[in-house]
Amino acid sequence: LDNTLNIGLLASGSGSNVEAILQSIKDKRLDANPCFVLSNNSAAPVKERAFKYAVPFYHISGRTHPEEDGVAFAIIDLIEKYQIDVLVLAGYMKMLPGEVIKHLGGKITNIHPSLLPKFGGAGMYGMRVHRAVIEAGETESGATVHAVTEEYDKGKILGRCRVDVDEDETEETLARKVLACEHKIYSIVLQKIASGEISW
Ligand code: GAR
Repeated sequence: LDNTLNIGLLASGSGSNVEAILQSIKDKRLDANPCFVLSNNSAAPVKERAFKYAVPFYHISGRTHPEEDGVAFAIIDLIEKYQIDVLVLAGYMKMLPGEVIKHLGGKITNIHPSLLPKFGGAGMYGMRVHRAVIEAGETESGATVHAVTEEYDKGKILGRCRVDVDEDETEETLARKVLACEHKIYSIVLQKIASGEISW
């Protein structure tokens, strides 16, 4: 019996986290089968990264599926087609439809660029998070991998990594540091899910 985790990856833009995960799989540091990369944006650079690793790329959005619940049903079709075990959100800037979350029984992970529960919630994404961390005078930040529920950034925390916020830190330098630690922590957490070390 093949126990390898079937994963589907979702990203909206650059997709550097998607690439880090695909490279971990290639290097055999992560025992997973990358079935597809899905983006809500047809021009997202993550598309080229999917091609580079020969992983099927899909564009699904309100534009490709304008009918009510169209996006939800299209994503559920992919989950069924590839027998997905875990959906991996990596810089996916859309709220996942509740039907999809229910369909997978919550087997969905997300990465957020702060130490949740701090600096999470609606409107807290990307550079806005790093700006808020600096404005609050925090001395540390980091990234959190968590289970996805129907409430923003509220699911069970599965793993975190920390970085120092230095005296002269800017949003850009902090973003770079946090992103580098995201690239490490996401594959580590997914491997713990694959090996059964994390139960959720
Ligand atoms: C990452 O920093 C990720 O944590 C963040 O967007 C970036 C995507 O970068 N996600 C969120 O803010 C979600 N609320 P990437 O496309 O290069 O992986």
